[in-house]
Amino acid sequence: MPEVVVYGAGVMGREVAETILANADCGRDLTLVGFLDDAREKQGKHVLGYPVLGPGEWIADHPECQIVLGFGHPWARYHAAQMVEAVGGTWATVIHPQAVISPSARVDVGCVVFAGCIVSAGAHLKKLTYVNYHTVLSHDAVVGPYACVMAQVALAGCVRVGEGAFVGTGVSTRQGVTIGEWSIVGAGATVVRDVPPFCTAIGVPAQPHRYYSSPQEMPAF
Ligand SMILES: CC(C)(COP(=O)(O)OP(=O)(O)OC[C@H]1O[C@@H](n2cnc3c(N)ncnc32)[C@H](O)[C@@H]1OP(=O)(O)O)[C@@H](O)C(=O)NCCC(=O)NCCS
Repeated sequence: MPEVVVYGAGVMGREVAETILANADCGRDLTLVGFLDDAREKQGKHVLGYPVLGPGEWIADHPECQIVLGFGHPWARYHAAQMVEAVGGTWATVIHPQAVISPSARVDVGCVVFAGCIVSAGAHLKKLTYVNYHTVLSHDAVVGPYACVMAQVALAGCVRVGEGAFVGTGVSTRQGVTIGEWSIVGAGATVVRDVPPFCTAIGVPAQPHRYYSSPQEMPAF
């Protein structure tokens, strides 16, 4: 049974851990071992009764454990992924037993799909994406690597979410639009036209209101 460690012991890491535990409860083969966190003050503590085993470097000495990311900021996910892969870490893919994944959909390594999600026909979640509770990806939607799609989002058919984009809670989209790489769509927005890369877009209909020039400058949300 694969042993899994959640890298990130904050609030999102806890949600990811509970998704792993739900798998174990229904007999799917993932065993939660604990958490990792680079923040010294969290190391040695317990979260949900599981130990915070150490910083990310712990992975190099434990090749038997698979890793899943518990961060919700796409740039933090990208950055952590470079480190994990550099030390030979391998990814767990975590899908809640109450998520519905079409047989023709693809879910790549390291993704987390939470309870209540529907991933429809031909949809594709690329490496290390994070799809939070009750989100619907309609037919042929594609979510780029490291992207985070938060709770109760409705991505219509053939929507493209670029690498490292963040789609806030409750966003809905028109079919076929593209959300640019490393962009942020604010909570509650309705996307009816493409969102350019490297910007924050808000409102109904969503409009860019702030630009930045690199993923490193992607703001917190
Ligand atoms: C859009 C967001 C990223 C903030 O972006 P920002 O560039 O830092 O924006 P600010 O907070 O400086 O606010 C700028 C203006 O936009 C407004 N605004 C912020 N977020 C908004 C949103 N989602 N929808 C509409 N207006 C919004 C603010 O009220 C403010 O208006 P004002 O100038 O009239 O006062 C953030 O509000 C957001 O929606 N984050 C996603 C949250 C989320 O989904 N979290 C899930 C975690 S579980």
